Amino acid sequence: MSIISKRLSKIKPSMTVGINVKANALRAEGRDVLVLAAGEPDFNTPENIRKAAYKAIESGQTRYVPGKGTPDLQKAIQEKFIRDNDLHYELDEIMVGVGGKHIIYNAMMATLNPEDEVIIPSPYWVSYPDIVLLAEGKPVIVECLESQNFKITPDQLEKNITPKTKWLMLNSPSNPTGSVYSKKELEELASVLLNYPNVLIMSDDIYEKIIYDDIEFSTLASLEPKLKKRCLTLNGVSKSYCMTGWRLGYCGAPKDIISAMNKIQSQSNSSTSSISMAASVEALNGPQSFIIEHNKRFINRRDMIVSKLNNIEGISCNIPKGAFYVYPNCEGIIGCKTNKGKEIKNDEDFMNYLLDSEGVAGVHGEAFGLSPYFRLSYATSEKIIEEACSRIERACKALI
Ligand SMILES: Cc1ncc(COP(=O)(O)O)c(C=O)c1O
Repeated sequence: MSIISKRLSKIKPSMTVGINVKANALRAEGRDVLVLAAGEPDFNTPENIRKAAYKAIESGQTRYVPGKGTPDLQKAIQEKFIRDNDLHYELDEIMVGVGGKHIIYNAMMATLNPEDEVIIPSPYWVSYPDIVLLAEGKPVIVECLESQNFKITPDQLEKNITPKTKWLMLNSPSNPTGSVYSKKELEELASVLLNYPNVLIMSDDIYEKIIYDDIEFSTLASLEPKLKKRCLTLNGVSKSYCMTGWRLGYCGAPKDIISAMNKIQSQSNSSTSSISMAASVEALNGPQSFIIEHNKRFINRRDMIVSKLNNIEGISCNIPKGAFYVYPNCEGIIGCKTNKGKEIKNDEDFMNYLLDSEGVAGVHGEAFGLSPYFRLSYATSEKIIEEACSRIERACKALI
């Protein structure tokens, strides 16, 4: 009899985490590896936020805190939703978790029964299907092609809703494609959802503030107030405030879902760290101008990486509107042979080839549910982007 639970046989470890581990191991062996696989800004946590954390430690905010968030943090989140999203949540409709990932995990554990279906548009963030499987639900993957800017259409949504559908996962700006749903596109999805009152919506807004080209961010619960009682609006400090290591995510959702999620949290991790909560109060209430500065850097890098990739034969890259990833198409590379005679059969082979031949680490599209693509993160220096693109070009030239 296996000592490991059967539950785990259905899921795989996070591939993005795995690739970073592999790249770091190669580095430790002395290889020159450029890692464009990380899902985090390369900027430091702003000083005012770091200082708020020191202050919390020195003032003794080091004890157990409520899992749903300290009163200060709950209030800061409530005000953030009003200020940025015109969403009014009562305090018992708000909760805090150990990162956005943990909020999703708690929500799925709290709501899914075996075989409940969760519609996940692909390409998706790698963890969605596995979290659903861990909670014994059934991911229903809906392929959203490049020709539709990797976004689910109202027609696709409607076709995939069944009596068993429990959730729709929506992520905008998207990881891995950087696509952003416009207000009009969300309104069209909302009009389908209004016909299916049993479907809940997970609106993953974690990249809300990393958005470019004057595009206006919209979220379903605020756009269609009739859907608010079925939406979980997810956000967190990881990406916008450069706080990935602090592990703090939060959400607004109907009271019964929040209360069920709190029950799980109370019997598992209790809460995220009291220090992270104090720092996040400062993140949400403090100056926001550095986000504009960061976005300016990201736009420069985006433009640079997109134009360089589009100059490489075999690769084409559309222009992402948010987040800090590109999701280039590598169809032109599939079927080519390396100088050792190995055929590049898929995007995973291509990523392995890039890592082995040129020391460039990206993530293959299959990990996000749509091939043949790969994801590169441009949350790294201009110098590294430049060097990585030159190496990718050299690697592709050697193939074609
Ligand atoms: C789309 C998306 N949602 C949620 C998360 C979770 O972020 P965290 O757990 O760091 O708050 C991530 C992180 O990469 C993400 O890309």
